Amino acid sequence: MPAIVLIGAQWGDEGKGKATDLLGPRVDYVVKFNGGNNAGHTVVVGDEKYALHLLPSGILSSGVVPVIANGVVVDIAVLFEELDALSSRGVDVSRLLVSANAHVITQYHRTLDKVTERFLGKRQIGTTGRGIGPAYADKINRVGIRVQDLFDTNILRQKVEGALDSKNHLLVKIYNRRAISVDEVVDDLLSYAERLRPMVADTGLVLNQALDAGKTVLFEGGQATMLDVDHGTYPFVTSSSSTSGGAATGSGVAPNRMHRVIAVVKAYTTRVGSGPFPTELLDASGEFLRMNGAEFGTTTGRPRRCGWYDAPVARYSARINGVTDFVLTKLDVLTGLERIPVCVAYDVDGVRVDEMPVSQSDFHHAVPIYEEFAGWTEDITGIRIFDDLPKNARDYVLALEKMSGARISAIGVGPDREAIVVRHDLLG
Ligand code: GDP
Ligand code: IMO
Ligand code: MG
Repeated sequence: MPAIVLIGAQWGDEGKGKATDLLGPRVDYVVKFNGGNNAGHTVVVGDEKYALHLLPSGILSSGVVPVIANGVVVDIAVLFEELDALSSRGVDVSRLLVSANAHVITQYHRTLDKVTERFLGKRQIGTTGRGIGPAYADKINRVGIRVQDLFDTNILRQKVEGALDSKNHLLVKIYNRRAISVDEVVDDLLSYAERLRPMVADTGLVLNQALDAGKTVLFEGGQATMLDVDHGTYPFVTSSSSTSGGAATGSGVAPNRMHRVIAVVKAYTTRVGSGPFPTELLDASGEFLRMNGAEFGTTTGRPRRCGWYDAPVARYSARINGVTDFVLTKLDVLTGLERIPVCVAYDVDGVRVDEMPVSQSDFHHAVPIYEEFAGWTEDITGIRIFDDLPKNARDYVLALEKMSGARISAIGVGPDREAIVVRHDLLG
């Protein structure tokens, strides 16, 4: 019963899309279980580059059934745009399934996301502005709209009325925006219903039956551990459960069916948006990582904040997620550095702290304690066997493995689909 969870170990953009795509040909279902079109996954296949947001990256493998499960928030216009863009490039998107229980992102969620951020001023989170937080807030407040509501006009109207009632007061009186009419929201949502209908399914049932039948299911997390609403750097997080536990609640497949947890981790660290980031580099080294690693957001184009590898973060991820295997990506980006510092612990007010500090304020002013490793200059992008890597690159990987809490089973050495060194079979 192979159910595999794949999540990000840091603050996102670790290369989860590429890792999922790599496993795609060997799995039967790829399930997105959290988040929405705040995610951005770039997958390079030969000369083709795909940017995926709402669709699971497994959609690029023919034969895979892509699933948008109940834990996702769906902007239906974006979904259709993405499907159309892929099918115009020859990708077969006909097998996509969408959970009847997934929540829908509407116009008022997008509007509220933007105005609340503006009002936060200096304290803003730096969201992607896609309406993610407000849509999840409505879900938790029990005033959300679900995919299944689109097929019952009366219920849909009642729910939109209920949701807009207080929001229009907020929009007009607090945020100085125009009120949104029930009709415009309902009409917009109904205009998608017929195209969406054939994709809608009880995805929890489908996935459990698939596992019963011996199929392989890969759960692909959006965002990452440090952006998880419970376990991340709250409030500078996204609004969903992006850790491995989220794969169960977000899909209706029980935790005891998951038999492997793969965490994707960059050979250094990046973050988009606000929030603490102890190893952040504001100097030429940060610029080196940004330029060499092409660290600009897939969704918003924002330059990503860059810093050295943070082993306490990786260890924390290993623990929170029950990581069985790491995929270490972007090792090639470090080529050319003379010395590579790695954060092994923090100094918090003069005290050495080896694990993630429990207090967020401590994490805000934690100063990294670095250990330095020798770099390499050889081009490693063509290497496919671990022993062929330069000795210093091997030593760097082995050192990270030792301090990060799980084995490193694959190593990314370039953006291409094939640019990977496999040490242990991720599905074996
Ligand atoms: P995701 O959100 O975790 O799927 O990651 P993104 O796609 O947002 O960002 C990862 C970026 O790194 C993408 O542009 C990938 O094409 C690229 N990438 C993935 N693995 C590697 C690697 O091993 N080396 C290099 N140089 N680039 C990689
Ligand atoms: P992938 O799946 C990196 C960040 C945003 C912001 C915070 C909250 O590509 O790794 P939101 O719009 O979710 O309410 O924004 O989370 N964020 C991401 N950062 N990669 C992502 O996804 C992200 N999704 C959200 O920048 O700081
Ligand atoms: Mg991304």
